[in-house]
Amino acid sequence: MGTQNNIVSANAQKYIDQEEKYGAHNYHPLPVVLSKGEGAFVWDVDGKRYFDFLSAYSAVNQGHCHPKIIEALCDQAHTLCLTSRAFYNDCLGPYEEFVSKFFGYDKMLPMNSGAEAVETALKLARRWGYVEKGIPEDQAIIICCNGNFHGRTISIVSMSCDPDSYSQYGPFTPGFVKIPYNDPGALKAVLEECGAQTAAFLVEPIQGEAGVFVPDDGYLKECYDLCKAHNVLFVADEVQTGIARTGKMLCCDHEGIRPDIVILGKAISGGVLPVSACLADDEIMLTIKPGEHGSTYGGFPLAARVAVAALSVIKDEKLTENAERLGKIFREEMSKLNSPFIEQIRGKGLLNAIVIKPHNGKEAWDVCLKMAENGLLAKPTHKHIIRFAPPLVITEDELRVAIGIIKESITSLE
Ligand SMILES: Cc1ncc(COP(=O)(O)O)c(C=O)c1O
Repeated sequence: MGTQNNIVSANAQKYIDQEEKYGAHNYHPLPVVLSKGEGAFVWDVDGKRYFDFLSAYSAVNQGHCHPKIIEALCDQAHTLCLTSRAFYNDCLGPYEEFVSKFFGYDKMLPMNSGAEAVETALKLARRWGYVEKGIPEDQAIIICCNGNFHGRTISIVSMSCDPDSYSQYGPFTPGFVKIPYNDPGALKAVLEECGAQTAAFLVEPIQGEAGVFVPDDGYLKECYDLCKAHNVLFVADEVQTGIARTGKMLCCDHEGIRPDIVILGKAISGGVLPVSACLADDEIMLTIKPGEHGSTYGGFPLAARVAVAALSVIKDEKLTENAERLGKIFREEMSKLNSPFIEQIRGKGLLNAIVIKPHNGKEAWDVCLKMAENGLLAKPTHKHIIRFAPPLVITEDELRVAIGIIKESITSLE
């Protein structure tokens, strides 16, 4: 696939060429060069405005450049940015207390990227397995799901079923057992066979990168109960689904379960800084002792101030409720469109996807190009699926305009 020079200005092409020449080729972006963002909108270098229906993979739930988050960032940037964890500072403790109470856990462990928080959860689970559960050393198993996406490190891609993620990156980290997603029977079978050796079950409450796969109602609860019966930690990767995206603060809240470890990233900073965290109670968290895990930037003062502001915005602006209400409108309106391109519409809250059936020689990528031309940005995940995840600050009126653009773009390609 080329970079579609026909719709790119010379000004924009300059930036595309620069990335092509000097940057690693590990992404394949749509040919749009952005230079400004505000709320649910972004602008390109030629001043054209777009609805942002990717929200940086659900990191920008609070909308671009939210004034309260930027205020916290700037205020702290003028005061103290980084101390490392060699010393205490006056931002980390307040942040840790705020986040722990916000989500109802004893403690949090701050990291930077989502992948680092997943790695942290894997370490916590293994350590808990040895220290608390009594699994013989180096024997711990972590169960994960086919179709998962938890990030890009060697250990994480060791769990992946996607050749793009793991091919020629081996040898891989041992100790993972993969089972089908949305299949509690598969979890039951593995736990019955090797529950005594199993430290944790790691799951995305909705598989985002896989194409917004929403499991059956009751799946998470059934898995949670199986984990409890076998003294196995239930670990929820809420990096993409968490923080109001699906219409609840955590996606696990839809089923009323409280994971033993929650992994958060992306929207915990409202798209302002790379901030992530693991939440757990003392029995799990305190198995890691000083010097046994960490990160130079993890929980740095800027991140601490930004994350408190970003989570406050979610509550103050009732973004959970907005996601729930507008998500229903989105699915309802899209399902009224009778198009040969649309195979399925699915999602929860404002994390939705349309499965595209190729038609007329056009596929999901072409639909995304057409939407971009018409002023809305979204990107295919796995060739035939387009994810629609606008910032949660989008208003109903804006959403209805955006739905019009999506419908008109799809229809014009028929
Ligand atoms: C569920 C999930 N976990 C982990 C990650 C990795 O996060 P990061 O890209 O910040 O490392 C992602 C990223 O898309 C994700 O969707």
